[in-house]
Amino acid sequence: MKKSILFSLPGNEALAKSLAEQLKMESGVAEFHEFPDGEICVRVESEVKNKSAILVCTLDHPDAKLLRLFFLAQTLRELGVLHLCLISPYLPYMRQDAHFKPGDALSASIFAKLLSAWVDQLITIDPHLHRIRKLSDIYSIPEIATLHAGKKMSEWIAEKIPSPFIIGPDEESQQWVGDVAGNIDAPYAIISKIRQGDRAVEIRLPELRVENKTLVLIDDIISTGTTLLAALGQLRALGHGKITCLCVHALFDRKIYDSLLAAGAERIVSCNTIPHFTNELDLSGVIAAELKV
Ligand code: R5P
Repeated sequence: MKKSILFSLPGNEALAKSLAEQLKMESGVAEFHEFPDGEICVRVESEVKNKSAILVCTLDHPDAKLLRLFFLAQTLRELGVLHLCLISPYLPYMRQDAHFKPGDALSASIFAKLLSAWVDQLITIDPHLHRIRKLSDIYSIPEIATLHAGKKMSEWIAEKIPSPFIIGPDEESQQWVGDVAGNIDAPYAIISKIRQGDRAVEIRLPELRVENKTLVLIDDIISTGTTLLAALGQLRALGHGKITCLCVHALFDRKIYDSLLAAGAERIVSCNTIPHFTNELDLSGVIAAELKV
């Protein structure tokens, strides 16, 4: 069997360390040097020949991270690595899954082609599968594992939220919300949403019977916060307060966090697919379990 060695790309150290400990795996050392002109150089300091390399690199704000990943992947191959696995808990560009306007790039597919040429295995968590139904429709990576945060979210809700009523803020969220609610036999409802722009959505609440319930809004991604702000605004107007917001991938900043609190969120919590100050649910065990298979 090939020996494995695990590398962290900058910013992914906590998850990489946790995985290396759980799997008792060697941690690789790769140094990234940035030249005064902004170009970078990677140096692999570990012995990697004939090993299987695992790269931990979540890809939020991807454009700044991709070259580091590419240089490391290529250098490892050149040094004799036999198999390259990328763990990217957040997979980017998945929301650009259609030509929304004439001439638009189909970025999800273009990005998939790019990444597919770099690695032999991809492990990711709850990619935004909407118009694209499964990753293998656009990725040609031989081994793809799409993992889910649903079980962890259900456990967290069961432990922390008395009498939860789960709400998904748009039709796509049905897949996550239905799963999470089903795991703990909680009632749920789905809001209708039409996106009009990056920071503009129109939403319509279904009829809600939520007396004596604690509302939990669940989305896969919080980015500009527009979706949840709209949902919170309407829920608050109907007299519902103290709403917990839970997401898998936290792409938002402090300003948006504060706006969500001001709009009626009592608590905002995320999974550690992207290192973020709202991380409360640790998915390293879910990834480690996949790597053990
Ligand atoms: C999109 O449909 C996703 O499921 C999320 O609802 C969306 O990405 C959230 O983005 P924002 O916070 O910018 O509204």
